[in-house]
Amino acid sequence: MISIYKSREEYGKALEYKGTKVRSFFEKPAPTRDIDLHKDMVLYLEDVSVSFDGFKAIDSLNLYIKKNELRCIIGPNGAGKTTLMDIVTGKTRPDYGTAWFGQNFNLLIHSEDEIARAGVGRKFQKPTVFENLTVFDNLELAMDSDKRVFPTLFAKLSSDDNYSIEIVLDKINLIQFRNKFAGSLSHGQKQWLEIGMLLMQNSQLLLIDEPAAGMTHQEIDKTAELLQLLRKEHTVIVVEHDMDFVRSLDSPVTVLHQGRVLAEGSMDKIQNNPKVVEVYLGE
Ligand SMILES: Nc1ncnc2c1ncn2[C@@H]1O[C@H](COP(=O)(O)OP(=O)(O)OP(=O)(O)O)[C@@H](O)[C@H]1O
Ligand SMILES: [Mg+2]
Repeated sequence: MISIYKSREEYGKALEYKGTKVRSFFEKPAPTRDIDLHKDMVLYLEDVSVSFDGFKAIDSLNLYIKKNELRCIIGPNGAGKTTLMDIVTGKTRPDYGTAWFGQNFNLLIHSEDEIARAGVGRKFQKPTVFENLTVFDNLELAMDSDKRVFPTLFAKLSSDDNYSIEIVLDKINLIQFRNKFAGSLSHGQKQWLEIGMLLMQNSQLLLIDEPAAGMTHQEIDKTAELLQLLRKEHTVIVVEHDMDFVRSLDSPVTVLHQGRVLAEGSMDKIQNNPKVVEVYLGE
């Protein structure tokens, strides 16, 4: 990767800005740094449409997400929620419209891999952790290799790398489970581990699909706390069906229906919207 910085000083300042300690002259740029977020907008989708065999899965959709926002996307089955995430991550190309990550990253001309490297991380509904590795090793594997200090010179993790993993272990409530095999975790803990793996990639924008699915009440409460914590350093979009969970996040909600935004606002406002009641909550 070619550094976009003209000087180490400039590079160091950018690292400090990201809250990262300046560690090494040889450290490579982290992926999110060339995304221009100065207007505090992370995601712009405008007039986006995509059809599958003539069926409009996304229909003239507009969506704007600000930096450090936690946005819930709800909507009945087939509303287009997963397709929306597929468009943002480059998995599906829209037939029409524009999609920008920050001011300067056109999502429609980059590959899935480039979009992930630029700082868009996604967690699918089903946890995909490595069951026969420890929690710690899962996080280590997920670590953004560009962020590793001297990755090819030293096989062992540096103390800074260890520290980054400890920070994530703490955030995802798995400190005491660091040496347990991921396969021995509860379903909820696996979901947290997968969120932790996303955090190791240092993504600015996190897309999280149904994090509360299959969790106990206690785990759901902790997940809500975790997402609130994450929005301090990231921008988070959550797709979720569990209305109690969405309410507990206390964040703006976008309701999708037939590929369009049906309503947007607080959960209270949404729940009293007759159109929403008709298509979704009244089901
Ligand atoms: N690759 C595809 N080929 C054909 N049709 C598709 C494809 N992907 C999605 N669709 C259709 O587009 C519509 C939107 O699907 P999508 O998966 O985005 O909905 P969703 O809101 O995620 O639903 P759910 O809550 O059930 O996950 C559905 O009618 C679906 O069948
Ligand atoms: Mg879906």
